[in-house]
Amino acid sequence: MAGSPLVKKFSFSKSSTSKTVSCQSIQSSMLSRDQLVSILRKEHKCLSLFLKRAEDLVSQDTNGFSDPFCECYVGDRMLRSSTKYKTLNPEWNEQFDFEIHDSDKRLIINCWDRDLLPFKRDFEGSVFLEDIHKLVRGQPTDFALELVGVNSGVIHFTLTAYNFGVTKSEIEPQKPVKNPKRERYVTIEHITSGGQATVYKVLDTVDETEKVMKQIVCQSADHATVALNEAWQVRDLKHNNMVQFDDLYLTEHKKSEEEKNYVVCFIMPFFKRGDLLQLIKAKSQTRTKSNYFPIVKIKKYLHQLAEGLAFLHSHFVTHRDIKPQNILVSDDYNQLKYCDFGLAKREEHKPMTPTTPGGNILHDLWDNGGTVEYMAPERLYKDLCNDDFSNCADVFALGIVIYEIITFRLNEKHAHPRIIEHQEHLEEVKRNITDAIGQRHGVVLADLVTSMMRFYPSERICASDVVEIVSSINID
Ligand SMILES: Nc1ncnc2c1ncn2[C@@H]1O[C@H](COP(=O)(O)OP(=O)(O)OP(=O)(O)O)[C@@H](O)[C@H]1O
Ligand SMILES: [Mg+2]
Repeated sequence: MAGSPLVKKFSFSKSSTSKTVSCQSIQSSMLSRDQLVSILRKEHKCLSLFLKRAEDLVSQDTNGFSDPFCECYVGDRMLRSSTKYKTLNPEWNEQFDFEIHDSDKRLIINCWDRDLLPFKRDFEGSVFLEDIHKLVRGQPTDFALELVGVNSGVIHFTLTAYNFGVTKSEIEPQKPVKNPKRERYVTIEHITSGGQATVYKVLDTVDETEKVMKQIVCQSADHATVALNEAWQVRDLKHNNMVQFDDLYLTEHKKSEEEKNYVVCFIMPFFKRGDLLQLIKAKSQTRTKSNYFPIVKIKKYLHQLAEGLAFLHSHFVTHRDIKPQNILVSDDYNQLKYCDFGLAKREEHKPMTPTTPGGNILHDLWDNGGTVEYMAPERLYKDLCNDDFSNCADVFALGIVIYEIITFRLNEKHAHPRIIEHQEHLEEVKRNITDAIGQRHGVVLADLVTSMMRFYPSERICASDVVEIVSSINID
């Protein structure tokens, strides 16, 4: 069979006690491989694996390619594929047949890169099928599974369960197993392109819902690791006022034979109302009293944003880019959710709040981006103070967001290099708030906002205090 596109391999268990045929008797009867496989499929429980191909494998060799082969396990039996040389997209088209026992559960396919030295090999990832007994009896099922344990790679194969598995009538109607993620999400339209990311509305072909794909194109694996930071920082955090990622994956785009880009893709729910900046802009077309958000809505939004931020801070995450563009609006306009954790930082050993103004902690934020209009004085004026209490800088930014929600005054300069000017500005902030919503609620909210926007980080209130104050505002 050497050189044939289809190589057939089979495995009878040595302990087979089958009534008609055993490993030894088959081997001694000099039947051809095809005849053996045919007996196996007809008279035994047999898992037939057709290993088609893999794509986007990780390159393990200095030539930019790998020499991949697979080892396929069921129970203690292993069948090995041939090796395909110098490729990241090997095509095997090889057939494997395993005799199955009731105790067999998993199918494991380990992919390896063959090395020059016979005992050395590099891991290319694994795929698992947890319960082969859930396969549909007699029906070939296509799989395209992402390789686990490596950054990229998908294996395509087909499985058929002979004489075991569930019958069609025993199973719930199921959708076909879908293809790799990049085929799963189909672009509907471009939403926006930012400094780094491009955001698309996509159709998830598995659950047929509209979602959003945020793509970050990276020139190098290191850059991709930084981009993945966005999901990594918040991977285990769930909160009503945070956007949750549904999916995350990395693909490669070949620029030329030698050069490639990495594309990090985040999948998340689609918010058809867009972001808070769009909402404020739409409402502020006419800055009339009747057009401001009602106080009930303001309280609701403030409470949610403060709760979301307090939650992040209590998990040692600093968002570092809080602004209306990074807050999404729910379909019924009743919920706000933080998104864009691209600059977020998680530091479990960092003090949550400063104790004195002017500490000795070197701040690294200066070079780390963010949005100037929402930056606290300590971030903007590097020589001003050495504090890097970035949680307090988040609170400062949220103060500005709240001010903008109340007054619709966008793009004002809020951080001043000297405390005197800064205080004067805060007086103006107070006036603008009371002008917009009146004295009754305006005074409390003006105090709240200005205590979030104090010049020194150490003097600002923290997010959980904001939650408490907002909860205590009586709007009846
Ligand atoms: N899930 C979503 N639903 C609807 N619109 C979204 C969604 N996610 C993002 N957007 C829109 O896309 C814009 C950009 O998204 P995001 O803030 O995540 O990336 P970015 O700011 O471009 O990234 P970067 O920080 O790298 O510049 C948002 O301001 C918002 O208008
Ligand atoms: Mg953004």
